[in-house]
Amino acid sequence: MPNVVIVGSQWGDEGKGKIVDLFTDRFDVVVRYQGGHNAGHTVQIGDETYVLHLIPSGILHPEKICVIGNGVVVDPFALLEEIEMLASHGISVHGRLYISNRAHLIMPYHRLLEEADEKARAEQKIGTTSRGIGPSYEDKMGRRGIRMGDLLDPELFREKLRANLLNKNELLGRYSHREGLSEEETARSYLAVVPRLKGYITDTAEFLNESAAAGKSLLFEGAQGTLLDVDHGTYPFVTASNATAGGACTGSGVGPTRIDSVLGVAKAYTTRVGGGPFPTELANSIGEHIRERGKEFGASTGRPRRCGWFDAVVVRYARVINNLDSIVITKLDVLDDLPEIKVCVAYRYRSQVLKYFPMDVSVLDACEPVYEMLPGWLSGTAGIKEYASLPERARHYLSRIGEMSGTEISLVSTGPDRRQTIVMAEKSRLQRLLPLVPVS
Ligand code: GDP
Ligand code: IMO
Ligand code: MG
Repeated sequence: MPNVVIVGSQWGDEGKGKIVDLFTDRFDVVVRYQGGHNAGHTVQIGDETYVLHLIPSGILHPEKICVIGNGVVVDPFALLEEIEMLASHGISVHGRLYISNRAHLIMPYHRLLEEADEKARAEQKIGTTSRGIGPSYEDKMGRRGIRMGDLLDPELFREKLRANLLNKNELLGRYSHREGLSEEETARSYLAVVPRLKGYITDTAEFLNESAAAGKSLLFEGAQGTLLDVDHGTYPFVTASNATAGGACTGSGVGPTRIDSVLGVAKAYTTRVGGGPFPTELANSIGEHIRERGKEFGASTGRPRRCGWFDAVVVRYARVINNLDSIVITKLDVLDDLPEIKVCVAYRYRSQVLKYFPMDVSVLDACEPVYEMLPGWLSGTAGIKEYASLPERARHYLSRIGEMSGTEISLVSTGPDRRQTIVMAEKSRLQRLLPLVPVS
């Protein structure tokens, strides 16, 4: 069975949760490899809606194993809350959730330092999810982070905490004029949850490699999206991890030659939460219409998402950076009421036409989208499961955005539910690797 990576091809919230859920049946293990509880992955199953932040969406399938890899940063309290949320729906993670002993912890000072950092940036703030994600990754790279495995050795944990607090308390005093955190209280609160977590902590890289060697198939669930990747995204308006396909390897300990296919997820339009450039943004009534109809409010923070037209420059870039085999287009139904729909095919920058995504956000800020105007279909597509049943203009729209993005469309989503999905591209590479059938 193949090992497949699913990644966001825009600025996150593309509908990865739904697509991972749809594919989970065909895999043995589902792996999160980067990010933390900044992610909000929504899965709708019948009348129930689940929002997963840290635990892979595959957990909703009772027989599947789920892994939180070394590349993830973990807030143990957020994790416990999620485990409890699942338990309240009758879903047990016991015996089928593994957390890497190498995953870094999010500590209380991470959130406080992030708050101070955002304040200091003023107009230039990133608009983070305020979960302490960035500062936790900073400490990881600064080689002073504390890891899940350290929780299992209370003395070592206290020692690392002490060393960190020496420096963090000084920073907190200087930048946010607050009293330092107490070592005793912090240690006590973290160590108190260890009995509830220790059964899950293990060497997940070893587990994943043994599973793969035994012929089990792995599905890697990306969080955030290509344009939020710390290296390839709209830096500095990005998250602090590698949300692109390469992150699946470093964030799990599974080598690149084990990956058989990479699938991108993109909305039929574009959204972004937080600050940073967004060339096709619609700061008008059309943007509001998309926000209302698409329920574009953050699954983690509830913030209204910025909405805009489909940007083929972005998705083309995502195809290249992730070497996508194909893409899934989600939320086609959200465009049903629009008489005209624009698609950005290139950017105009001064006297030049850019077809490739620029590195510099000040260039991107100054780019004007070059649009192709397509006619809307003005009829309901919600819940349609057959490509042939789509209005002709919707099929035309899909075929144009596929062409402009330079990638094949393998699935189209027409609603949040599993069943509201069209399976396309019968002859695609993905289809050969992993035959897809419509969910009844
Ligand atoms: P993720 O972070 O990529 O998993 O995406 P989110 O869960 O944050 O946001 C996607 C939202 O769109 C969720 O509320 C989904 O239930 C919803 N959704 C997914 N696919 C579709 C679709 O095809 N149509 C509509 N109307 N909603 C969808
Ligand atoms: P999913 O997995 C959309 C954005 C934040 C902010 C930037 C940095 O649901 O697609 P961070 O807290 O990560 O340091 O914030 O990244 N961001 C997301 N936007 N979807 C997400 O996750 C996001 N996770 C972070 O809004 O602009
Ligand atoms: Mg989301």
